[in-house]
Amino acid sequence: MPEELLRKTFEIQGWDFENAGERSAEVTTILKDLDVDPNIILRVGVVAFEAEMNVVMYAGRATLTLVVTDDEIVVEVADEGPGIADIELAMQPGYSTASDEMREMGFGYGLGLPNIKKNSDVFSLQSEVGRGTRLHSIIRLISYG
Ligand SMILES: Nc1ncnc2c1ncn2[C@@H]1O[C@H](COP(=O)(O)OP(=O)(O)OP(=O)(O)O)[C@@H](O)[C@H]1O
Ligand SMILES: [Mg+2]
Repeated sequence: MPEELLRKTFEIQGWDFENAGERSAEVTTILKDLDVDPNIILRVGVVAFEAEMNVVMYAGRATLTLVVTDDEIVVEVADEGPGIADIELAMQPGYSTASDEMREMGFGYGLGLPNIKKNSDVFSLQSEVGRGTRLHSIIRLISYG
């Protein structure tokens, strides 16, 4: 059994552009303090930041849970937003429902979810329309073979 070194849960507030990105910044600070490999921190940072921004832009409240064990880092973001009707479509690079206002702020390229997947060793996205969305990402600390 992998040994759990750290578990922390953060609240993310939807529509809060002012403080957007703060939770993922906290996540990377924690990993730096744990002396995690910088390349791993970069990947977890992308996952946490893109997931956090999606909550800010499309969902309401969410919790981000960070779990660090001696062989992997898990990021789970569960929101109480509108859900995603077509996950396959949402995963396509370039697909975005961002508003003009969000695009003016530099978001809405439709690259967040594909980037999260690319940076994850294990990725899953589950959603129920009207209830919310749950994103689960695992980044391994040890590579086998
Ligand atoms: N947590 C969520 N709740 C509801 N819809 C979501 C959520 N996350 C993503 N989506 C939907 O999936 C689409 C694609 O998300 P993705 O992160 O790939 O791109 P984006 O957020 O539109 O743009 P970018 O991430 O490049 O700024 C979003 O435009 C939105 O319609
Ligand atoms: Mg996004």
